[in-house]
Amino acid sequence: MIYPISKVRLDFPTLTKKINDNKLIYFDSAASSLKPNYVIDHEMNYYKYEYSAVHRGIHTMSREATDKVEQVRRKIANFINAKQTEEIIFTKGTTEGINLVAYSWGRTFLCPGDNIVITEMEHHANIIPWQMLAKEKKIFIKYIPLLPNGTLDLSKLPLLIDHNTRLFAITAASNVLGTINPIQDIINQVKNISNTLVLVDGAQYIMHQKVDVQLLNCDFYVFSGHKIYGPTGIGILYGKKYLLDIMPPWETGGSMIKDVSLIKETTFNYVPWKFEAGSPNTAGIIGLGAAIDYIQNIGLKNIISYEKLLTKYAFDILNNIPNIKIYGPKYNRISLISFNLGNHHAYDIGSLLDTYGIAIRTGHQCALPIMNYFKVSSMCRISLAMYNDYFEIDKLVDILVKINKILIN
Ligand SMILES: Cc1ncc(COP(=O)(O)O)c(C=O)c1O
Repeated sequence: MIYPISKVRLDFPTLTKKINDNKLIYFDSAASSLKPNYVIDHEMNYYKYEYSAVHRGIHTMSREATDKVEQVRRKIANFINAKQTEEIIFTKGTTEGINLVAYSWGRTFLCPGDNIVITEMEHHANIIPWQMLAKEKKIFIKYIPLLPNGTLDLSKLPLLIDHNTRLFAITAASNVLGTINPIQDIINQVKNISNTLVLVDGAQYIMHQKVDVQLLNCDFYVFSGHKIYGPTGIGILYGKKYLLDIMPPWETGGSMIKDVSLIKETTFNYVPWKFEAGSPNTAGIIGLGAAIDYIQNIGLKNIISYEKLLTKYAFDILNNIPNIKIYGPKYNRISLISFNLGNHHAYDIGSLLDTYGIAIRTGHQCALPIMNYFKVSSMCRISLAMYNDYFEIDKLVDILVKINKILIN
């Protein structure tokens, strides 16, 4: 199939925007992807014609909105091949999903002397919740080290995981280095060593590879809607049902109870609603459902193949720019590339590119341990999505060459 790039681009209204008289080139999708009309229309339609509170009304509007929310839950369960729909919990995003596990599971089941293993390549969202937990519960955190080529030193895995390791939390793909971790092999290895639970941070992976949580045999999988062409403020925590059942609620209030009494003990709702206190982000949930439909209409496989070609092309021509240092593996990467130009600060490069209408990510990218490892304070990152094309990459490279000359002189 020839990838319908021109048609795809027409679906994303933000791409018509001009910055300083230049057509916007959006290379910051790993931070947050643009939204197709299909997603925007579904959200708008809900607000205009279908709006109602969910899970708490007998009237038609409330019942219909509730059905829509639960339909999306089923859709997500199918999308990642969860065994049961109840294993899908709506969160605000990846960050909230990880915090939920740290608060609910971590504060209930961890004892002093236990340990958690994470990696040196994690986003802050998959570091800080564990550090806070470690302090509170007097447990240790151990780190799988990085290697200079931007992959993990997995030879250390059997040395770091032991019978006191209660959880191994790892990103499926690095938001800085683009590295795709061999998650299936890693989980198999971890499970062979001990009965450690595995949490996978799928924030950067979910839109680049098909995910099958049953095949992976992970215990938790988290991702955000806004990185897969869906709305902000909505995300997913997948958890194995038996774990979710024994975990206590972390936020409390409406919707998550079975019975509330001022005399007897309050009892809680079943999973997943036990973890969804308060009124949910219904428009966000509907938008996320639309994003999944949109992706599936084009075909995840087609999107992935197209992005792979585009990334290889970008890597090869960026690599030819004098003075450039690209971080991470050469080809086995998701569609993002982080780099520095000589000793110039990433903010200088990012600001100059912005004058030409090119949006890239600059800074520590919420991964300071990676910056420290490579002894830099910041990096530039381009991230490519289903709507980017070869012309945009050529323009980026032309301008980077120009900037390089300006900054050298
Ligand atoms: C690998 C990774 N994990 C976690 C997050 C946090 O995601 P969110 O801000 O949507 O909660 C990000 C965001 O960039 C990420 O790239």
